[in-house]
Amino acid sequence: MNTNSNKTYCSAPWTSLHLNAKKSFGPCCHIEYKMDMIPTDKKSIMNLFNSSEFIELRKKLISNNLEGSPCLNCIDMKYTQKAYQFYNAEIEFFGKENLTKQKQIQEAYFKKFTIVDYAPIDLLFYTSEKCNLKCIFCTQNIASEQFPLDEFNHLLDEYESSEIDLFSFVGGETLLNQDSLSMIESLNNNSKFSKSLVHIVTNGLLIKKHIELLKSIKNLILIISVDGIEASYEHVRVGGSWAEFEYNLNLILEAREINKNIKLLLRSCVMNSTLHDLNKMVQYAKEREIDLYFSPLFNNDLAAQREENFYEYDLITDDIFDENIDLAMKTADNMPITLDSLRVLKEYYHSKSKERMQFIDFFEKLNQNLNNAPIVVYGSGEFVDKLLNIKYFFSMNIVAFADSDLQKQGKKFLNKEIINPNRIIDYATNVFIASAAFETEIENFLNDTYQDKISIYKLTNKENLC
Ligand SMILES: C[S@@+](CC[C@H](N)C(=O)[O-])C[C@H]1O[C@@H](n2cnc3c(N)ncnc32)[C@H](O)[C@@H]1O
Ligand code: SF4
Repeated sequence: MNTNSNKTYCSAPWTSLHLNAKKSFGPCCHIEYKMDMIPTDKKSIMNLFNSSEFIELRKKLISNNLEGSPCLNCIDMKYTQKAYQFYNAEIEFFGKENLTKQKQIQEAYFKKFTIVDYAPIDLLFYTSEKCNLKCIFCTQNIASEQFPLDEFNHLLDEYESSEIDLFSFVGGETLLNQDSLSMIESLNNNSKFSKSLVHIVTNGLLIKKHIELLKSIKNLILIISVDGIEASYEHVRVGGSWAEFEYNLNLILEAREINKNIKLLLRSCVMNSTLHDLNKMVQYAKEREIDLYFSPLFNNDLAAQREENFYEYDLITDDIFDENIDLAMKTADNMPITLDSLRVLKEYYHSKSKERMQFIDFFEKLNQNLNNAPIVVYGSGEFVDKLLNIKYFFSMNIVAFADSDLQKQGKKFLNKEIINPNRIIDYATNVFIASAAFETEIENFLNDTYQDKISIYKLTNKENLC
């Protein structure tokens, strides 16, 4: 077995299972598949871990054929070499010696098994979307489902000790939710799992209320989200108070003084309102000897992020971005986790900026080419949303949008009708494909249906598309 293989494809589908109270599952936070029932035993966990969706994804990763998969746009996959190379960031942060099934997993991964015979080492629960804040960049706080406590307890009964290395809890706000807290208590009180890591992602504001529980967890990894300092913190974390945040953070810092097994990590989402705080954030973490990592915004609701998402929208200049990031990098010179995340952020931003420039260039040329001839845009989703601030996109004579989604057909989008793709020819002989993930599929459909009766335009440079 070659454990030093230079393969860089993601290992999450070989290690991790995320379970969402909304009856969805997946290997990571970027992929969600629907499930019929919340799993309550080992067998149903294995059915998900070896589901057709997981097998298909493993095959795609192994063959590097990611067409139609969110992996194509994954920041971990694209810009970091190590995020999912057997240890997700948290496990790596805590210490590889805590992994129990390394060999088994490495064998399955390097030998390219698409079906595995071990339990996921990392079980992550999206316990509930309920939250005490309404952060401007977040789409939580909508669904009301809660991961059922009885089912969780039943799962714990079924597993042997050390079968699962890492239990993660993400919300909403886990510390707000009594059932989520009870799940953590159950785990904590179960001696079978005394070596497992308990990983909680929190906004930190309820630490005081649950400090005794947090202190009692044997191997705690607490990721505390904080995206800016003082006014910008309060601006983006709507409902949160900076003073309260600091008070709660200090409590857990004091607890860490006594219990060195408490691992703290600050997580900071970088957006328009917090960019200027980057360096201050690094200083803040440095002074308190806490690791800090930065993340860009995910596009889970692009339209809601128009004021903040400078990765997708033209909101700042590259100079301003670089000025802030370079200063923060200097301050973070002896903070490897922070530095690495800043490097990834910088690379990500610039690839997005380059992509925007390519879009502008593409649509300027397309406009000249079309000379006001009618065009149908195939796609009416997130991809179009990204093009909305490119003026040349709207200079085109768009007569309709086409979409294969039956629910959308007949409705209006940007004041134009959404039509069935089989009717494109009734509207125009020019089609622009507004989808990165399904570009080839759509192109094949158009070629099969219309042969040379239409001209197809697409943004072909996939490397830079999301
Ligand atoms: C959904 S929250 C749940 C946990 C907890 N309420 C918190 O704020 O940490 C988990 C993490 O996702 C981050 N997050 C929320 N919306 C995001 C977005 N649009 N892009 C990137 N990260 C986001 C939060 O900042 C937080 O670090
Ligand atoms: S605290 Fe967390 S879950 Fe709640 S709105 Fe903010 S980012 Fe979302």
